Amino acid sequence: MHEPGIPTVAVVDFGGQYAHLLARRIRALGVFSDIVEPEAFDPQDPDLAGVVLSGGPASVHDPGAPQLQVSPLDVPVPILGICYGHQWMARAAGGRVGSGAAREYGLSRLRVDASSPLFSGLDPVQVVWMSHGDHVETLPSGWRATASTPSVPVAAFEDPTRRRFGVQFHPEVVHTVHGDRVLDNFLSVCGVPRTWDAGTQERILVERIRREAEGCRLFLLVSGGVDSLVALGLCREAVGEGPIHALHVDTGLMRRHESRDVEAALRELGVADLEVAHAQDRFLSALAGVVDPEEKRRAIGRTFVEILREKVGKSGLGEEWALVQGTIYPDRIESGGSTRAERIKTHHNRVDEIEALIRAGRVLEPLSDLYKHEVRALGRRLGLPGFLLDRHPFPGPALGVRILCSHGRPVPPLPEDDLRGLADLVGQAGLEAAVLPVRSVGVQGDGRTYRNPAVVWGTSVGDWEPLLLLAAEVVNRIPGLNRVVWAPEGFEPGSIRLVPATVDSEALDLLREVDHVATREVADLDPIWQMPVVLLPLADAAGRRVVVLRPVTSRDAMTADVYPMPADRLSRLLAALRALPGVGPILYDCTTKPPATIEWE
Ligand code: XMP
Repeated sequence: MHEPGIPTVAVVDFGGQYAHLLARRIRALGVFSDIVEPEAFDPQDPDLAGVVLSGGPASVHDPGAPQLQVSPLDVPVPILGICYGHQWMARAAGGRVGSGAAREYGLSRLRVDASSPLFSGLDPVQVVWMSHGDHVETLPSGWRATASTPSVPVAAFEDPTRRRFGVQFHPEVVHTVHGDRVLDNFLSVCGVPRTWDAGTQERILVERIRREAEGCRLFLLVSGGVDSLVALGLCREAVGEGPIHALHVDTGLMRRHESRDVEAALRELGVADLEVAHAQDRFLSALAGVVDPEEKRRAIGRTFVEILREKVGKSGLGEEWALVQGTIYPDRIESGGSTRAERIKTHHNRVDEIEALIRAGRVLEPLSDLYKHEVRALGRRLGLPGFLLDRHPFPGPALGVRILCSHGRPVPPLPEDDLRGLADLVGQAGLEAAVLPVRSVGVQGDGRTYRNPAVVWGTSVGDWEPLLLLAAEVVNRIPGLNRVVWAPEGFEPGSIRLVPATVDSEALDLLREVDHVATREVADLDPIWQMPVVLLPLADAAGRRVVVLRPVTSRDAMTADVYPMPADRLSRLLAALRALPGVGPILYDCTTKPPATIEWE
C-alpha cells in the first residue's frame, strides 16, 4: 500500500494483533511502516529500508506455520525478528528452536549486552514483556546472543555483519519499559531518514487524491463522523470545492438531531455543494424483518449504494465520477481486508456492492492506511473544528447495529458443562450469574464468534477490579460465552423474557433517547473513547427493555478496555436513565476487546 519513493519499514504479519502496534510505533518514530502478509513480502522493493518480523501464535514447528518465501539471509536490508519472528529467523538461518520447558508469560528481567547496536544506550538490566512457549536454543554460526533471562539464554541475538537482530520479548507493548528505544535503535541501524510526519502524510495523500480523482466528480457520503469529515477536508484541500458533491443521508438510524447538526456544521464549514437526502423510510423497509446482524449490515450498506447510484444517475455523469469513502485501517482489516485476517464484521463501506465499485476503480479511500488518532491529527492540520474531530467514533450503520433483533425464539442453550462452570466461577466470587438468551459478536483467537453473554450481579457499584478479573476469567474458561455484562442494580432472570424485535421506529425512538441521555451524562469523562448503548430484545414484566452500556477506552479500536466508571458517576447515569419510560434493567459490559468487539453486532 505504500507510496513509491517513501522509505518504508515492512512489518511482516505472522498473525496475532501486535503487528498493528509495531507499525504504529514505527510511524510515531518518524518512519513510514506498512503491514504486509508473509506471502506478499517483496525483498526487492526499492523503498524497503528495513523489515520487522512480528510475533504470532504459531510454533515454528507447526506444519504450515507462516514464513517468508525467501531466506532471511537473502534480504538486502536489516531485519528485526520479534518473538515468533525471532525464532523463525534463527531457525531459517540454521539455528535450533526448542519447545516447552522455558515458557514465560508476562514481565521478565532481561540482562542485555549494551554493546549491541540494538541495545545502545540501555542499562544492563531491562524490564520486558514476554509471551512465548518456544525459544531459540542454538544460533546459526557467526551469530551471537545479546540478551538473556534466567530461563532463556538466547533472549536476543545479532548477526552484526548482515544486520539481523532478534528479540524474544515484545518491544512494541508498553509493559516493555524501553521498548521504543529498541525500535528506535533498529531504525538507526536501518539508516532510514526520520521524515515521516503528519505533514508528509498530508502532502502524499493530497497528491494521491489529485492523481486518482483527475477529471472526476467526487461523491462523498458524509455521515458527520470523524472519518468521512476528514476525507472531505482532504478532498477539498486536494481538488478544491468545484468537483465535490457532499451527500449526507439521513437514514433514520441517526442519533437525536444528528442530521440537523451535521448539516449545520457542514454549511458552517462552507461546503458548497451539499445535499441532504431524507431516506428514513427506505432504510426502515430495507431492515423490516431482518434479524441476522450481518444481513442488517448488508441491507444498510446496499441502501447507501442504491441512493448513491440514483444521485449519480441524476447528475448525468458518464464514467467521470468516483465515490470517496472515509474507510480507515481497522475497518479494512476487520472486514477481512488481508488474507490472514478473518472477517469479523462487514463494515458498511465493504458490502458486496461497494466491493464491486472498488473493483471497477470507482472508489477512493484516502484514509485507508491510517488509524483513528492519525485521522484526528490530520483533521486538526486541515483546520477542521475540534468539536467535530473529538467526538466519540460512531459506526456508519449507526443505531441499526445497536438494536439487537430477534424472531422471539431463544438461541440454543449452552451445554450443561458450561452452565456448571459459570455457576462455579461466579459462586466462588460470591456473585450470581445467568446466561442471556441472545448472542453478540466477538473476536477470539483472531476469528469471529457469535455467542451468548453472561450477566452477573451481586457486587456493589465501584468495586471494579474483582469484577473485571472475573469477567475475563469467565470468558476464558467458558467456551460458549464471549461477553460478560454486569447488572449494577441487580437482576431477576425469571422476570426477563425474550421478545420479537427488529429495527423499527419504536425501537429507534427509545434507543435515541437512551443514547442521548447516556452520551450527555458521560460527555466530560475524557478517558471514554466510545460508549455504544445497545437495546436488547429482552423485556421485564412491565415490558420495559433491557439496555446495555458499553463504555470503553481504546487507542485505535483494534483493542479496547472496559472503562471503570467512578461510582458516583455511574449512580448518576443510572438514575438519569431510570427516569426514561421504557427502560428496564440496565447492564454494563465488562468485556475487553478481544474477546468481545466494541459494538455488539
Ligand atoms: P468493533 O465493534 O468491531 O468496532 O470493535 C471497532 C470500531 O469500528 C466502529 N464500527 C464501524 N465503523 N462502519 C464504521 O464506519 C461500520 O460498519 C462499523 N462497525 C463498527 C465501532 O463503532 C468501533 O469504533
